[in-house]
Amino acid sequence: MNTFFQARPSSSVNVHEEIPQPWIEKYRPKSMDSISAQEQTVAVLKKTIESQNLPHMLFYGPPGTGKTSTILALARELYGPKLMKTRILELNASDERGIQVIRDKVKNFARTAVSNRRETSDYPCPPYKIVILDEADLMTQDAQSALRRVIETYSKVTRFCLICNYVTRIIEPLASRCAKFRFKPLDISNTTSRLKMICEQEAVNYNPQTLEELAKLSEGDLRKAIMYLQSASKLHKKEMITSESIREIAGVVSDDLIDSLVESAKSNKDGTQLEEAVTKVMDSGFSAIQILSQVQDRILDDFQFNEAQKARIGEFIGQFDKYLADGTDEHLVILNLIKVISDTSE
Ligand SMILES: Nc1ncnc2c1ncn2[C@@H]1O[C@H](COP(=O)(O)OP(=O)(O)OP(=O)(O)O)[C@@H](O)[C@H]1O
Ligand SMILES: [Mg+2]
Repeated sequence: MNTFFQARPSSSVNVHEEIPQPWIEKYRPKSMDSISAQEQTVAVLKKTIESQNLPHMLFYGPPGTGKTSTILALARELYGPKLMKTRILELNASDERGIQVIRDKVKNFARTAVSNRRETSDYPCPPYKIVILDEADLMTQDAQSALRRVIETYSKVTRFCLICNYVTRIIEPLASRCAKFRFKPLDISNTTSRLKMICEQEAVNYNPQTLEELAKLSEGDLRKAIMYLQSASKLHKKEMITSESIREIAGVVSDDLIDSLVESAKSNKDGTQLEEAVTKVMDSGFSAIQILSQVQDRILDDFQFNEAQKARIGEFIGQFDKYLADGTDEHLVILNLIKVISDTSE
């Protein structure tokens, strides 16, 4: 049966301490204060907790920046770790159909009245429940329209928190019912200090430059950074983790290989030689999208190309990126890229 929303396994809300966990879960912030980098968002949310007048919320921003962690931490601070299990309903939009399913689920969830536990609990325990709709931008427009009514109907007993990566995919009438919170990509220093903390807790042997490089590679996505760190530490056990293994794990092509590809494009005008150079890189098993992005960086730093030439190549790279997204053969795309560079450098 297709269901529109699927409940996240409850284990992710309260994970048992003794079971070995992936570090991304183990180091998921448990309180609002331990959320890195999103100072403004956290400050505003803390104010709303104090007033206990929680609005409907829309969290948006790139992956791995703390959206899900923040709402879970907020729920924990409102209800405490025990009560939060009964007070929040966490759903993600994994199938486009069946707004009816969400209606039913929310209705069932909201129907049981919430008792006022304020006197008996150490937590504020406001008299409403929270419905978290993760990946809300994957909902069809129709489903989003239908959600407007659901939000209104149940707003007395529930608050909604919509989470998405692309805020422009949320229809305006829905967005305007929510207070919007933007989550920004984590900068290098925030990512590095979080990684350092994990390294110290897990007794990982590291040097600061490697962590900084890892932070750069993860492009503001802390989840990605932590995943890479855990893989690298498994690889090196008690030894020092190296930049090379981080790059290997992240699937980054070595600078030498990119250099030789671009240089052969600049010097060899012969089609067969160009094809050989491309085959060499592709046979190393790197993804075309990674090669495309690294070649772009390499071209931008290449003083042998003037601004007009860089702009021309950049335009093609944009097109090639779309071709790859549409599923075009990777080898063919990289071959074309090299041909364009070769023609431009003539
Ligand atoms: N701001 C942050 N502070 C501390 N840890 C973070 C932060 N952002 C991400 N993390 C780490 O990355 C993991 C994933 O974060 P989270 O699930 O909150 O990301 P998200 O923004 O919801 O991403 P997605 O859009 O992919 O759902 C967390 O478990 C935590 O370990
Ligand atoms: Mg999330």
